[in-house]
Amino acid sequence: MKVLVVGTGAREHAICDALAKDVELYAYMSKNNPGIAKLAVDYKKGDEGEVEAVAEYAKEKGIEMAVIGPESPLGKGIVNALEAVGVPCVGPSQESARIETDKSFMRKLFADYEIDGSLTYRVFDNYEDISAFLDTYEKDVVVKPVGLTGGKGVKIVGDHLIDNQDAKAYAKEVMDNVMGGFAQVIIEEKVVGEEFTIQAFCDGEHLVPMPAAQDHPHAFEGDQGLITGGMGSYSDKNGLLPFMSQKDYDDAVEIMKATLKAIAKETTPYKGILYGQFMLSKDGPKLIEYNARFGDPEAMNVLPLLKTPMIDVCKAIVDGTLDEVEFEDKASVCKYIVPDGYPDTPHAGEIIEVDEEAIEDIGAKVFYAAVSKEEAGIQLSGSRALGITAQGKTIAEAEKLAEEACGFVKGSVYHRRDVGTKDLIQKRIDHMNDILNN
Ligand code: GLY
Repeated sequence: MKVLVVGTGAREHAICDALAKDVELYAYMSKNNPGIAKLAVDYKKGDEGEVEAVAEYAKEKGIEMAVIGPESPLGKGIVNALEAVGVPCVGPSQESARIETDKSFMRKLFADYEIDGSLTYRVFDNYEDISAFLDTYEKDVVVKPVGLTGGKGVKIVGDHLIDNQDAKAYAKEVMDNVMGGFAQVIIEEKVVGEEFTIQAFCDGEHLVPMPAAQDHPHAFEGDQGLITGGMGSYSDKNGLLPFMSQKDYDDAVEIMKATLKAIAKETTPYKGILYGQFMLSKDGPKLIEYNARFGDPEAMNVLPLLKTPMIDVCKAIVDGTLDEVEFEDKASVCKYIVPDGYPDTPHAGEIIEVDEEAIEDIGAKVFYAAVSKEEAGIQLSGSRALGITAQGKTIAEAEKLAEEACGFVKGSVYHRRDVGTKDLIQKRIDHMNDILNN
C-alpha cells in the first residue's frame, strides 16, 4: 500500500518508522530529514502548508492513504484537499481540526455539550471588557491567542506574566496584533497541578487511548528557563504516570470521548489523532487544550511501543472500524537534543555528529527533527535537533539507556539530563500530593 506521511520533524520520523516495514512509504517535507529520507521510497521537499501541491504530489504517485503530522496543514485544509483527489487521511478535516485551530470553538463545545474538565474562560474582542473582567477576577489567569501560534502565544500569570494587570497588557497585544489570525483573545482561569498528555486514535466515532505521557516544556534542568516545544517526555509501563491514578486516566479519556461525540454533532466526524493536554488538579483532570495531531515529543514515547501494526490502526481509522490497539507494557523516555543557545539564541548551521549505529546497538533510537542532511553531515537549523528514545521495564531503566545514547551525539548541542530521572519524578509526585492534601 502506498502511504504518504506529511511533515518534517521527529514526530513524523516516528510515524514513518512505525509504518515503514508494512507499506511503500512516501514523504512530503519542508527539510531533508535524514531519518525520513532513509525510510521513504520517494519524497518531495516542499512547503507542507501548500495543500494543493501536496494533493498534486499524492495524485501523481498514486497514494492510497495519507498520515498528516503537523497542525498547520490541517488548519489549511490538507485533508479536504487530499480527500478531494481520492486520498483517505489519518487526520481531521479543516472543520474538525478547529478543536486545535480555534480555541474559542473548543471551549464553546465544552460549554454547549456540558463536557467535564472545563475551566472558567472568556473570549474577548475589546480592551474595555478585558480590563473590566481582570479588575474583578480574583484568580490568576492564562492568556491565549485563539488560533495557532506554534506553541509560542500562551502566557501564564506567575510564569511569563507578573499578575492580572500584566495579563491585561498582553491580552491587548494578542488582540491588536491579531496573533494566531483572530482579533480576539481567550482568558482562562489558571489551574494548578501536574500536566499530562493523552493521545488517542479516533475514527470519527470510536476513540482508543494510548499510554499517558508527560512532557517537559522548560528549556533547562529543574524546570528552569523559557518554555520550548518540549525537551523530553516519559511514559510508564502501566500506561499511567507515577502521580496519576487509574481513575484520573479514565476520567481524562471520558472527557476525550465526550469531545469526539460533540465534534461529530457540531461538524464533520473527527478522524485522526486527538492529543489531550490535561492538568491533573485537586478536582481531577482539567482540559488545558487539544491538538489535532500526535504530540512532539510524546509520539516518540508511544509509537515505538505499538504492538498492533500502525498500518492496521491507520486503516481502521479511515474505515471507521477502530477497536483494540495493543502496546508493549514498557516504560519509555525521550530526550530532545537541541542546539546550544536554544530557544532564544540557538546555534544554527553547525554540523553535529550522530553515531546512529552506536545508539541502536545499545537498544535506543534516534528520531531526527529540525536538521537536514548536507554533504558535510547533519546540520542544525536552530530548532530542536533530534529525539533520543529508549524503553525499559521501568522508567529508570529507560532513562539510563536514553542518557547513555545521548552521549553518542557530539557538537554544539545540549539536552535535559533530568528528564525521566528518579529525583524529578519524585518532585512531580510530591507536588501532586501537596495539591491533594492542601
Ligand atoms: N508536546 C507539546 C506538543 O506536542 O504540542
